[in-house]
Amino acid sequence: MRSRTRIAIVGTGQVGTATAFELIITGLVDDLILVDRTPQVAASQALDLNQAASAQSFGSTVTSGDYAACRDADIVVLTASARLQPGEGREALLESSCRIVDSIVPAVVDAGFDGIFVVITNPVDVITDRVLKLSGFPRERVIGTGTALDSLRIRQELARIFSVDEQSIQAYAMGEHGDSQMVPWSAVSFWGKPLDHAIEDNPERARGIDPDTVLDVAKDSAFQIVKGKGTTSFGIAATTCSIIAAIVRDEHSIIPVSVRLEGEYGHHDICAGVPVILGVNGIQEVVNIHLSDAEKRAFDASLANIGAMRDKAPELPSSR
Ligand code: LAC
Repeated sequence: MRSRTRIAIVGTGQVGTATAFELIITGLVDDLILVDRTPQVAASQALDLNQAASAQSFGSTVTSGDYAACRDADIVVLTASARLQPGEGREALLESSCRIVDSIVPAVVDAGFDGIFVVITNPVDVITDRVLKLSGFPRERVIGTGTALDSLRIRQELARIFSVDEQSIQAYAMGEHGDSQMVPWSAVSFWGKPLDHAIEDNPERARGIDPDTVLDVAKDSAFQIVKGKGTTSFGIAATTCSIIAAIVRDEHSIIPVSVRLEGEYGHHDICAGVPVILGVNGIQEVVNIHLSDAEKRAFDASLANIGAMRDKAPELPSSR
């Protein structure tokens, strides 16, 4: 990490600009570069965001540029994507997103970028896998946002039910950032108190909660947001910024992200959401949650789903 943190965001739609805005107002970035296939849009967003930066006291700068401008970045955030239509699942973006990263990633790497990719583009597990292959980077430096936001949504729903601050709840969604994701309920805790015990001890507050319903509410929230405003943006932007904060500040925070499994959980060569320790070098370690047999089956089924989706992806460009 250089003395000034340099981050590039590729794709300046709602997700890219929400991420940019949060990076600026939290002071997580010193030099922010915006890249878009329509340079005029990136230039205007940069001008606008630079004024937001001037209103803070962090001294950060925002410029626009092309892929070559990503060369010296510590982190490149990939947000470029087609839009999900209401009613569509993330898989509908598979082909267009593959084409998008096929053109972006080699250009960024050929420019000399040697930092950490943070991938938001959906379907994020398959696209993270593709960015790994297109870049040739080690898995430590290709991080998909994965189930980080799903985990937040689960915690938010549990917090609502139990009237407990979200920060006091540990809960991970794992597997696909999509319909097949699962939650190891045996690992959910209220600051160390298992969910089962919380339900048993607080029947009134728990009101007979059904974990499957909690998961459904969390999963459905993305589609509720898309239905009304066309895309999700602030939640994923804030989630991405917490991933970036863990890297930039070398926090060693545990966050569930999409990472290539290399034997963990009995899987190889597939990217999926699992908790990891995040620090300045990216993924420091995959955290091995002890899953029950039923949880392991649900996790395996979710990974089979990701694998089946990857099989439908267009072939990788032959030059790499
Ligand atoms: C969401 C998008 C990022 O779940 O997939 O909000």
